[in-house]
Amino acid sequence: MINCKLNVAVIGGGGREHAVVKKLKCCAGLASLTAIPGNGGIARDVECVDIDSLDVSSVVRYCRDAKIDYVVVTPDDPLALGMVDSLGEAGIRAFGPVKAAAQLESSKIFAKNLMKKYGIPTADYETFTDSASALKFVRESFASGKEALVVKADGLALGKGVTVCMSREEAEAAVCIAMDEKRFGKSGERIVIEEYLTGPEVSVLSFCDGNTIVPMVSSMDHKRALDNDEGPNTGGMGCIAPNPFYTPEIAEICMESIFIPTIEALKKEAAPFKGCLYFGLMLTDSGPKVIEYNCRFGDPEAQVVLPLLESDLLSLMLACTDGSLTPEMVRFRDGAAACVVVASGGYPGEYKKCCPIGGIVSAESTGSVQVYCAGVKKDGDALVTSGGRVLCVSAVAASLEQALKTAYRGVEKIRFENMHFRTDIGKRALCAF
Ligand code: AMP
Ligand code: GLY
Repeated sequence: MINCKLNVAVIGGGGREHAVVKKLKCCAGLASLTAIPGNGGIARDVECVDIDSLDVSSVVRYCRDAKIDYVVVTPDDPLALGMVDSLGEAGIRAFGPVKAAAQLESSKIFAKNLMKKYGIPTADYETFTDSASALKFVRESFASGKEALVVKADGLALGKGVTVCMSREEAEAAVCIAMDEKRFGKSGERIVIEEYLTGPEVSVLSFCDGNTIVPMVSSMDHKRALDNDEGPNTGGMGCIAPNPFYTPEIAEICMESIFIPTIEALKKEAAPFKGCLYFGLMLTDSGPKVIEYNCRFGDPEAQVVLPLLESDLLSLMLACTDGSLTPEMVRFRDGAAACVVVASGGYPGEYKKCCPIGGIVSAESTGSVQVYCAGVKKDGDALVTSGGRVLCVSAVAASLEQALKTAYRGVEKIRFENMHFRTDIGKRALCAF
């Protein structure tokens, strides 16, 4: 229960943070809300303070001086740097895992070894610290009949550290890019090479208080840049929730074989997880397996999951931090949500910046549409593009079909030079019904 109103700060400046901000703004226990650093679009909702979210000591100093009571740490990098630990040392409570638990995302080797030790289903793998042994393993695997392998940099790599390799040559190149060319810096000094899995992918975000885990409504990201899952991997080009492949039976299996064992494993490793734990799952013929853990809300998963959340987000976050979470506290509305990411043409490669953006207000007057701003900055009174993923147009409706139609009607109103979006978000999900 919240006894007095809180000054809250949200760390980060993407579409996900905009979704968190919009949801927190409606919470009963809020006195004030600030985004650090936020972005030009978030600044239309709350005050934004221009401090780099990787500058942990400046963020902590600001929060102490501004009498911030509670900090929501949303992106992966500040979590990996131990921002929650540093805020705690300064007497400021925060939503998110401490550094030791955030290793689940910041080191794939940590995550894979944990899963192996505790029998949590995941792809078979080997880890490597030098390219010669990695290349030998690649050659031997393909010689013994493997048709594909997945090469993963151990550390954070802006979502670019995973390469699905459908030939020996591709796998060899991926090893060299990470270990010899050092394209991901220190993050690629160690790598994981794992078995290639197939099946529908599901994202399940969950609230955790260290002991109790409560899954949120499931969702489906669309990672490739182009329609029909073609083109390079991106941070995510659109999302739908709930994910129709994630049936109640599968949810039960995941709870017993993946979610609870993960929370228990982290407790045993003296790194109990508090915050939002994201399970990236693949529903294979031999059951659900973990593809990746993230220690935070997904982007764009948050932009479909949070609009469906009925419960008070701030109360849930505080319950995670204080260790008082119960399943009854987490309620989602019926129906579905969809979002379409509107990106700068060329993303995830090179793209132009500073293009004036129009149509946000008009899009938001379309049914239930909400426009979350990501790569957006202010230019006087106008908004201009400043990143690859620019806007995320979300809608909620009674059915997935309706939510998709409304989101795409919203997208039609958006205008900026060279804008790009996928036209098939939700298509695969609709086929599952
Ligand atoms: P990640 O950045 O870890 O989310 O991985 C990016 C994407 O690579 C995932 O969403 C999957 O589509 C794919 N991927 C990762 N690991 C595997 C695997 N073991 N088998 C097949 N695809 C994978
Ligand atoms: N949508 C994938 C992620 O947030 O990592």
